[in-house]
Amino acid sequence: MQAESASLATVTIRIGCEADLPALEWDGEYRHFRQVYRRAMDEARRGQRALLVAEVEGLVVGQLFVQFRGTDTSGERGGRYGYLHAFRVRPPYRNRGIGTRLVTEAETILRQRGCGKALLAVALANQPALALYQRLGYTVTGRDRGEWAYLDHQGRVCHVHEPSYVLEKPLTPATRLQ
Ligand SMILES: CC(C)(COP(=O)(O)OP(=O)(O)OC[C@H]1O[C@@H](n2cnc3c(N)ncnc32)[C@H](O)[C@@H]1OP(=O)(O)O)[C@@H](O)C(=O)NCCC(=O)NCCS
Repeated sequence: MQAESASLATVTIRIGCEADLPALEWDGEYRHFRQVYRRAMDEARRGQRALLVAEVEGLVVGQLFVQFRGTDTSGERGGRYGYLHAFRVRPPYRNRGIGTRLVTEAETILRQRGCGKALLAVALANQPALALYQRLGYTVTGRDRGEWAYLDHQGRVCHVHEPSYVLEKPLTPATRLQ
């Protein structure tokens, strides 16, 4: 994969669509998440998530999913929040700001939906990602056992155990132009 010529100016952050699903498997490396991504796309169509992708010259090189959570019964912004997950940038395209742009765009979407904060989890051992989140204003609020299960592309149940830090960031309201 040739990444040297791709400057940040050539990167587009956009909402992912059905046609992007094969690219999210990264030439087979993430084939096991086919059903997970399929379901996320279905939820995005129902307005329950936003799937962001980063594209460079027609190639999907990064992704970040946003799950909309919480209720608004109290009428306060804090009742709604977003959960960021499935965050990845292809190795040759890392450390040039693409991940930062994905997170920033996700936060913009959350603000526009009236969400008061963004939450995410990062594996205890994933220091590079933890550093990135902290630079972007996220603080550790606790830990999670990181236990979940999914059906892989062959319908097998796969169990994940990835103890994680839980981080969050308060989101200031979107500025409305008069
Ligand atoms: C985590 C991940 C998505 C970050 O993506 P990325 O595109 O490399 O992110 P960025 O380039 O915005 O930031 C990474 C670092 O590069 C630096 N950087 C940003 N733009 C840069 C540029 N133009 N030149 C040099 N460095 C730059 C950032 O300051 C940042 O450093 P920091 O973490 O010390 O703050 C990517 O490393 C990845 O896919 N990792 C594997 C999967 C993973 O761990 N996902 C997170 C799960 S919680």
